[in-house]
Amino acid sequence: SIDVPNVQALAASIANPADVPPRYVRQEAKADPVVSDGDSELPVIDFSRLLHHRFSREESAKLHHACADWGFFQLINHGVPDQAMEKIKGDIVEFFKLPLEEKKAFAQLPNSLEGYGQAFVVSDDQKLDWADILTLITRPLQSRNIDLWPAQPLTFRDSLSCYAMELKSVAGTLLEVMTKNLGVAPEEFSTIFQDQTQAVRINYYPPCPRADEVLGLSPHTDGSGLTLLLQVNDVEGLHIRKGGDWYPVKPLPGALIANIGDIIEILSNGVYKSVEHRAIINAKKERHSIATFHGPRKDSVVGPFAEIVKGCKPKYMSMSYREFRKAYFSTKLEGRRLIERLKL
Ligand code: SIN
Ligand code: FE2
Repeated sequence: SIDVPNVQALAASIANPADVPPRYVRQEAKADPVVSDGDSELPVIDFSRLLHHRFSREESAKLHHACADWGFFQLINHGVPDQAMEKIKGDIVEFFKLPLEEKKAFAQLPNSLEGYGQAFVVSDDQKLDWADILTLITRPLQSRNIDLWPAQPLTFRDSLSCYAMELKSVAGTLLEVMTKNLGVAPEEFSTIFQDQTQAVRINYYPPCPRADEVLGLSPHTDGSGLTLLLQVNDVEGLHIRKGGDWYPVKPLPGALIANIGDIIEILSNGVYKSVEHRAIINAKKERHSIATFHGPRKDSVVGPFAEIVKGCKPKYMSMSYREFRKAYFSTKLEGRRLIERLKL
């Protein structure tokens, strides 16, 4: 594996813009235009309406279009208790405030992405992201590596367990409605998503004096099924691809930002889109976010749902979820690179 500096420590050592190492500076960071607000709005899905009458037809249709047209939506009234969100947010902020040596007690092991460190880097000449991350597997329960879960602050493990459990239930319901919307039988859904996998990636983006020339997270698509993102404070930074432009997301208070990952694009035979997104950096303020990834069970085979490809050709190859993960983590995280390769 390739050794990458700790970005929080690096940011703290920088006195002026010229000190930002060239490996973080890239032309494309500001090259892309950003669409102005008001042109089109990111869909907002009301989870409580979705549940109403199991399931509200109108809200289900809205969800379907959000998944097909945007691959992203804001989720409001999701029912995750405020307290569960506030607890994990507070503990994340506290964790990143710890001295580097204390955080390093939970560092990624060689050739693994789990734990505290940086996003995966596959070559020595690759540009680097301006972020530190803490990745943890939360489900299935027997896959948890509790030694890598921060023991400071003292409530961290409990806060994360609690938050992860709440999100699992929200994701399970969303996935169930999506399957129904795609015209797929519930049995096909449970074959794939019962005993689902879940992981969190907690992102820490320090401020940077050359904020316009670095990226917190390179453009990528998510390798899971469904991602639910919570940003910790009101510093914005998520951009999603819309047409050729980058669309800045402004999370509604208390909302979760949901997005379709590669696995759902494959299962839906391309009806739902795994859309590219990136994170930008603020010149003055730090930013934290927590992305929770929901994937199929470990031993499942991922390919277009049989019922969807009855009348048409499969557009993606089938493979085991294990093989998919291997391919995802050995490919440079770049745009839609992997998913395009899986197209038939
Ligand atoms: C992500 O792509 O998971 C992170 C996006 C963000 O921090 O807003
Ligand atoms: Fe992502």
